[in-house]
Amino acid sequence: MAYKDVYAAWQADPEAFWMDAAKAITWDKSPSKALFDENAPLYEWFSDGMVNTCYNAVDRHVENGRGDQVAIIYDSPITGNKAKITYAQLQNRVAAIAGALKAKGVEKGDRVIIYMPMVPEALMAMLAVTRIGAVHSVVFGGFASNELAVRINDAKPKAIIAASCGIEPGRVIAYKPLLDGAIDIAEHKPEFTIILQREEAVADLIDGRDFDWAELEASAEPADCLPVEGNHPVYILYTSGTTGQPKGVIRHTGGHLVALNWTMKNLYNVDPGDVFWAASDVGWVVGHSYITYGPLIHGNTTIVFEGKPVGTPDAGTFWRVISEHNVKSFFTAPTAFRAVKREDPKGDFVKKYDLSCLKQVYLAGERADPDTIVWAQEQLKVPVIDHWWQTETGYAIAANPLGIEELPVKLGSPSVPMPGYDVQILDEGGHPMPAGELGAIAIKLPLPPGTLPTLWNAEERFKSSYLNAFPGYYETGDAGYKDEDGYLYIMARTDDVINVAGHRLSTGAMEEVLASHPDVAECAVIGVTDQLKGQLPLGLICLNAGTDRPEGEVTAECVKLVRDKIGPVAAFKLCIVVDRLPKTRSGKILRATMVSIADGKDYKMPATIDDPAILEEIREALHSLGYAG
Ligand code: COA
Ligand code: AMP
Repeated sequence: MAYKDVYAAWQADPEAFWMDAAKAITWDKSPSKALFDENAPLYEWFSDGMVNTCYNAVDRHVENGRGDQVAIIYDSPITGNKAKITYAQLQNRVAAIAGALKAKGVEKGDRVIIYMPMVPEALMAMLAVTRIGAVHSVVFGGFASNELAVRINDAKPKAIIAASCGIEPGRVIAYKPLLDGAIDIAEHKPEFTIILQREEAVADLIDGRDFDWAELEASAEPADCLPVEGNHPVYILYTSGTTGQPKGVIRHTGGHLVALNWTMKNLYNVDPGDVFWAASDVGWVVGHSYITYGPLIHGNTTIVFEGKPVGTPDAGTFWRVISEHNVKSFFTAPTAFRAVKREDPKGDFVKKYDLSCLKQVYLAGERADPDTIVWAQEQLKVPVIDHWWQTETGYAIAANPLGIEELPVKLGSPSVPMPGYDVQILDEGGHPMPAGELGAIAIKLPLPPGTLPTLWNAEERFKSSYLNAFPGYYETGDAGYKDEDGYLYIMARTDDVINVAGHRLSTGAMEEVLASHPDVAECAVIGVTDQLKGQLPLGLICLNAGTDRPEGEVTAECVKLVRDKIGPVAAFKLCIVVDRLPKTRSGKILRATMVSIADGKDYKMPATIDDPAILEEIREALHSLGYAG
């Protein structure tokens, strides 16, 4: 079948389409139907089925003869370690950790936060939590204590599983002090923690609260898989929104299993047994869907890569890993390729490796610029597929589904909507716009299985963030257009979310931190264009009247404050003092206009601007930081 036939089959009968896809999952009790729309506009999928995520990702493969197949390859150029873990070994290790959690009182529905770097135990922790019907929330290692504390307060975990440290180029990051700091700050206190000790920084354990992973794993009574309802949450993953309070995206068990499994062949073109590699981090949605769950549910071998695209040790790392481990489909962020391209524009490292195993490459997380795609196409000589999705959806909204049909690639477009997604470009009044015209990108409800059914403990916020703007639609927060052939073009965010090196960050959260500095009266954070990372945050601050401290001192403190409060991943290094900020007459800060000035783009003078003269002051300030032409 061609793509258009598959899409048409879904459109004609979504219920039959998803019930058919559900057959690839092993249910303890089959669902009676796919869609549950009794609470529309809140929808659920497969709610009355009974199923276990870990069973589908691990145990059933052992039962079906894949026990000796490698499930996880750990390749860590940053430590020099490598390991291979078969499905049978994974089953034993996960069952033991699940048993340890259970013995310590973790029950179905309890939350467990996971704060770990890219080590196989991070995946084991996720699987162990789902094995007993508990709900995990993985927090990215680049977030500081304060961000971790915010998530602890919201998820209210019974336990936290962490590693003693993560390793970044040139420095070991001790996680335990960050974890202790977060627990100190948080109002909610977990009952206990499990710490994976790594030799690079062994942590001190607090008696009675912190337990050693290795000791627990060695002594635990293994736990069985607990079947849960199809609409039982499998995880909460926090993502950036407009404010400093992150949104807890939740995923329901049944739809998550069905949808991810469907994508592995249809989109990523791998068969069970093939090696699939997503070079991301378990702290992000890509890591959830395509390092842990998708590949394992589908019976693939997944790679846990602890390193960077460049510098660990060189710009050939990706190609070495692909060649050494026989990777068939590779997924990364455009920023990673830009980093490699910058160091190896002619592809000298590419030529050093036999890449005949590699059949296709996927890019997501940010807009894939045509130069990067063309460079990758020329170097790798395989299809390079841009695809568009969000933490909220959990898998691609638009893509080029190579396992169904290879559609022509159009540079700058992540191609066409996937089955399940009726994507529309809407004007401000919610009316569909003609091809070629820019508007808000919205998806007709219901969203397909595996997407977010709501936000954790925040149904009203779910509605106000996503459903209220265009009744009957989910608002993606992205703006763009469709061409005559139905290809989508994703151009910009419509909110204050920026994308830095494929990481989604909230300028609102950074503004909250800057505003807390005692000398700052007012501030704005904007995302300026960056050749490598796509965007970088830039802070403009106005000082309190009477502050006579040197401006450089205050801006340096602001940079440090954001790093301490949000984390190094915010990459907040640009900060400047200005006398005043440009505003509308009603007092709204004109951030988009400042972005245009910084990027040297034409802009229309906002009709409602209070004092146009401020824009020249802003241009001069931005110019002094190397922006605005
Ligand atoms: N723990 C602690 N610190 C972390 C971290 C982690 N897990 N991940 C990143 N950081 C730190 C970095 O060390 C860096 O610190 P620095 O300011 O002291 O240099 C800072 O956070 C910013 O990191 P990053 O934006 O990743 O920049 P970088 O300069 O280290 O690397 C790239 C640049 C392009 C190589 C890198 O961003 C990259 O590989 N990006 C791919 C992104 C990706 O896979 N995204 C997932 C979505 S698909
Ligand atoms: P995240 O939730 O971190 O995955 O970020 C999702 C956001 O990243 C989307 O809403 C887009 O703004 C952007 N994004 C992700 N993939 C793409 C892509 N292929 N093209 C353009 N933007 C993308």
